[in-house]
Amino acid sequence: MAERVTLSAPAKVNLRLCILAREQGGYHALETVFCALSLADEVEVSRGGSGARLAVEGEIDTGPPERNLALRAAHVFYREIGRAPATDIRLAKRIPSAAGLGGGSSDAAAVLRALNTLEGEPLARIDLLRLAIELGADVPFFLCGSPLALAWGRGERLMALPPLPRRPVLIAHPGVAMPTAEAFREVAALRGETYVPTPAQINADALADWDRIAARAVNDFEPVVARRIPVLDDGLAVLRSAGARLALLAGSGSSIFGVFDDDASRDDAEPALASLGLRTWRAETLGEMPAPRLA
Ligand code: C5P
Repeated sequence: MAERVTLSAPAKVNLRLCILAREQGGYHALETVFCALSLADEVEVSRGGSGARLAVEGEIDTGPPERNLALRAAHVFYREIGRAPATDIRLAKRIPSAAGLGGGSSDAAAVLRALNTLEGEPLARIDLLRLAIELGADVPFFLCGSPLALAWGRGERLMALPPLPRRPVLIAHPGVAMPTAEAFREVAALRGETYVPTPAQINADALADWDRIAARAVNDFEPVVARRIPVLDDGLAVLRSAGARLALLAGSGSSIFGVFDDDASRDDAEPALASLGLRTWRAETLGEMPAPRLA
């Protein structure tokens, strides 16, 4: 039996993010297209003594350990299998936090997968998905097996899609965070209580190539987040003028990203973004989800 499982936990961006409705409890029903990126954390999960312990490497602030989603994932996993936690988690953090890139969610999904492997697959995929939803709206995507998926609801209803050809991506971050709950509140304040449905036909066919995806690329958070962080609009303009096929806010912010046709035009956009004071990361879209490595 394996003693340790190592997983690359990729970042994601949303190629489309529409807020469809506000539920009674205050949550929002979404329609979104998730796309995984090569920018990734590394998560190493080992069989441990008693308890669940977390060690974080890297310069990125991940907040207090008790609120860390990777650690919470370990606790809900052991609760589900009816055993006391017994694991050590090492997280090499590279995905910026509170950036809309799903880093914490991806780490949590990696921990669920790794623990299920270490413990001899006690949970079926559907059980893992249930735990994933409990942890957060972006977590189920990282367990769906494809780097591209259409999702509804809070992100728990997923249609895994065939991956698209890999494309270079440039991410830019303004250095300030945009908390998700605040972004939702601001959209609600802007729209009032009336969420008028916008007709759209979204199906697998509409998402079958980059041209069709670019035609449907939108992020409903963009107006409220860019109002609060105006440099994001300038950054999106730079990405577009450098030839990005699509340029959007990532999730609820605060980073933005562009998807390019070639490395050269992506790389050309970097200096102009840096001169706006934005920090940049080069990445590419993934052709497949990373496989776990056992030791
Ligand atoms: O799921 P996650 O933990 O990322 O959500 C953070 C907050 O964003 C929630 O507590 C909720 O206030 C808001 N949210 C929402 N509708 C969603 C997802 C999140 O209102 N579909």
